[in-house]
Parts: sequence; C-alpha cells; structure tokens
Amino acid sequence: MTQTGDTRRPREVAEPPVESGAWERYWSAIGSRDIPPWDTDPEGQLSDWCRQVSGLLRPGLPLMDVACGNGHQTSWLAQRFATSVGPVIGVDVSATAVALAREQQLHLSGVDYPGVRFEVVDVLDDQAVKALAARTGPANVWVRFLLHLLDDDDARRRAIASLATLAGGQGRIFDYEFLAQEPGKMEGYAARHTSVRAVFEAGVRPGQLMPRELAALYRDAGLTVLTERSDEFHGAHGPAEGTFHAEWIVAGGERDAAAV
Ligand SMILES: C[S@@+](CC[C@H](N)C(=O)[O-])C[C@H]1O[C@@H](n2cnc3c(N)ncnc32)[C@H](O)[C@@H]1O
Repeated sequence: MTQTGDTRRPREVAEPPVESGAWERYWSAIGSRDIPPWDTDPEGQLSDWCRQVSGLLRPGLPLMDVACGNGHQTSWLAQRFATSVGPVIGVDVSATAVALAREQQLHLSGVDYPGVRFEVVDVLDDQAVKALAARTGPANVWVRFLLHLLDDDDARRRAIASLATLAGGQGRIFDYEFLAQEPGKMEGYAARHTSVRAVFEAGVRPGQLMPRELAALYRDAGLTVLTERSDEFHGAHGPAEGTFHAEWIVAGGERDAAAV
C-alpha cells in the first residue's frame, strides 16, 4: 500500500534521550553469544525487500549499509548485490559491532571478501560522514533500523542529512524502520525474551516513529520519496512471538530544489 501524507509525533510519546554509549554497551554485552532480536534470516524479509527495491537502486554505485550492526545483513546484501552494484560497505557507530561484523565476514567467506568492508562511523558526526563520502563517492544507501532509535528531532534531521551526503546526489536511500507499538507490547516482548531485555538494559529505546513520519522526515529534508510502504515486522523470535508495525521508504538522494 502506498501512503501519502505527513504525520507528526505527539510530544507526549517522546522518551528520555538515548545516551551515546548505549550501543557500545549493548554490543559489548552480547558479543557473538546472543542473536539480536532484529537479526532475522535475510532469506525472508530482506530478500523480499531486495526484490521490490533493487530496480530503484542506481547500478554501479557502492551499497552502503548504514548502522550495519553485526553485519549479518550486510554480508547477505554483499552476496545479493555483488554483481549489480559496486562494493558493499557496512558502517556503524559501535566499534564492537564493526569488529563482530568483520569477524563474521571472515567466518562466512573464509577469506577477507574484497567486495565488503566495515568501518566505524557515527552518522551524526558530520565531518566523519563527509570524509567517508569523499572516500567512497556517491552510494546507494541501505538503512535497516536507525531513525526509530533516535528520539530527538535534531538527531533525525542530522542523520537524514548524512544519508543524503552519502548518496551524493546520485544514489538512492532505502530505509526500513520500526514504529511506535501499542502500549505494553514491547514490555511484554522483553519480559519473554532475554535478547530483547538486553536492548532495553543497555539503554536503547526503540520505536520512536509514528505512522507516516518516516516519509515526512525525508520530505522535510528536501528529498523525494519514491516509494512508501507499511509493513509488519517479525523479529528473530518469529511471527508467533510478535508482529510489529514498521514502514519503509525509498528516497532519491538528490535534493528537490523546490523543497527546503
Ligand atoms: C537495531 S540495530 C540494526 C543493525 C542492522 N542494521 C540490522 O538490521 O541487523 C541498530 C544499529 O544502529 C547503530 N547505530 C545507532 N546509532 C548510530 C549512529 N549514530 N551512527 C551509526 N550507527 C548507529 C547501532 O550501533 C546498531 O548496530
């Protein structure tokens, strides 16, 4: 279903800001021992999105997996897109996540697969993002779970500006985000699963986006939203354990001159 419109988050939904070390704390705590609750088998939903989205990505440009976490999805994307886009680069703010991603990539391929590499980059660090963009050139940008974790309007705006910088006026941006869920739903999920509890215990607060807010944020940033979809996300614990509201968009990396 394609959606239109522009929805703003009621102020009362806002949570306390996520402290900057929360992600490093999370990845250090779980290491490679536990599977994150969002780490689903890429052959399922990821494969489905790829089918829908791949025609919109600009051929020949690198694919940048921003906020790549442990790189599980990045490695799969590298295999999926190896022949249709350029190199695949995973970036994450957490040095521990990037170390896990590199380790996993070696484990998967047995060699340091030249088509994929990982870097520590904070998308809220404008200088680091510009330096990365200068090294890689325009890229298609792949995001799976980033903006919904940022509970501050300014942080969301800066993150989207960074994604546009990485797209460099040529690449496309795919962004899949979790939405705010019904009251009590996440708490119930966390009570049933230690992997979900670990996220909250680290200080991460998911689900900071309201329906249709994702596309509105991109439009407000002056980007053209080419596709907007609502979706139901099943975490790594499977559909029987919960179905969560999500949305994804594909945006053109070039700014619309008529927009702000
Ligand atoms: C829910 S995980 C998703 C990981 C991966 N995209 C996936 O789908 O498996 C969110 C990731 O965003 C990263 N992250 C959070 N804030 C970030 C920032 N400012 N810059 C880069 N990465 C960030 C976290 O370290 C974490 O690995």
